[in-house]
Amino acid sequence: MFKRCEKIWINANCATLDPNVDAPYGCLHDQAVGVRGGQIVAIASMSELDLNLSSETADLIDARGGWITPGLIDAHTHLVYAGNRAREFEQRLLGASYEEIARQGGGILSTVAATRNATVDQLVELSQPRLNALMAEGVTTVEIKSGYGLSVAAELNMLRAAKQLAEHNPVRVSATLLGAHALPPEFHDDADGYIDLVCNELIPAAASEALANAVDVFCENIAFSPAQCERVFRAARAHGLGIHAHAEQLSNLHGAELAASYGAWSADHLEWLDEAGVRAMAGQGTVATLLPGAFYFLRETRLPPIELLRKYQVPMAIATDLNPGSSPLASLQLMMNMACTLFRLTPEEALAGVTRHAARALGSAQSIGMLREGLEADMVLWDISHPAELASQFGVNPIRQRIVAGEITHV
Ligand code: NIG
Ligand code: FE
Repeated sequence: MFKRCEKIWINANCATLDPNVDAPYGCLHDQAVGVRGGQIVAIASMSELDLNLSSETADLIDARGGWITPGLIDAHTHLVYAGNRAREFEQRLLGASYEEIARQGGGILSTVAATRNATVDQLVELSQPRLNALMAEGVTTVEIKSGYGLSVAAELNMLRAAKQLAEHNPVRVSATLLGAHALPPEFHDDADGYIDLVCNELIPAAASEALANAVDVFCENIAFSPAQCERVFRAARAHGLGIHAHAEQLSNLHGAELAASYGAWSADHLEWLDEAGVRAMAGQGTVATLLPGAFYFLRETRLPPIELLRKYQVPMAIATDLNPGSSPLASLQLMMNMACTLFRLTPEEALAGVTRHAARALGSAQSIGMLREGLEADMVLWDISHPAELASQFGVNPIRQRIVAGEITHV
């Protein structure tokens, strides 16, 4: 089975995250992992590997008892933007709320002004350090949203920047069109008119240039109503795009239930989600993407309904929500830690949340998110003695190798 492998990692412990492997974390000890053509082609115990035969064709890489996990997947980011909102952080510490700042024209709209003024090349340059930070911690796939352009030209520029980042970095990018993020100033008092633009011009343009895999909406009192979001979902479906939703972050408008009814890949945030919403998500296989960084940074106190999500077996993904306003935190390892400390997930749930379930949240469960024969060879080799370390310890990055499509990349 290791015949014609190009590379074989030997003496590895594997946290496969494969539910077919009947052990916590899908653990397999003392393994060899063979890769060919960018894919995992063999995972077997060292005793099954004929080293003499394998070393003729393959590079042997000695993991020396380290742990291999699937590459980490950050399934919700807004990492392409210009400007920063550190001054709003100060305002909030002096008593202003996130909603108040948004209603006064700050918040998302202040990032929109800065982003509209940037060229595609400038956006790429400004975003590269944030992407670097994620990759350095083992991220091999990142979702990137638009949503700070809010015009056809500026939204497409954000997506072009995401595409350039994908072309120039060893990372997979899933691009999401978040046209319905906030109402741009020129549509003041005409949210329906702006949604017309999103549905009739923006979505078709992004789809025809193949710049987006999915759409997203911000379903909230300070953003768009369920009826407006539904129009976006219909347009997305008509163009064969996946669906995400920012839902139930600050109030309960039943946006997750609505998104699930359109077969959404994920509903995200969810602090205000109720049992009917959880049931709807379970019924449609919609992933709950939890964002502990935004919960922490906005000093929220209402927890997402973790027990209900467990009860109805809704898969939980964990992501950074990396953005300038509510989560300027470019660390998926920190999010794993916060998912445990703030949301009481187990370290195993946290690791599944940044691998298998995150893959599903991007509609990519068939190709990434686990160590399994036939999947892409996106992996991380860690110097740890147990996978729980990835969520418990923070600040000492234990990565040894980051592997994308079978290639060892510099970290
Ligand atoms: O996911 N909720 C809406 N959007 C972002 C915040 C964006 C911003 O404040 O710039 C979020 O939290
Ligand atoms: Fe977000």
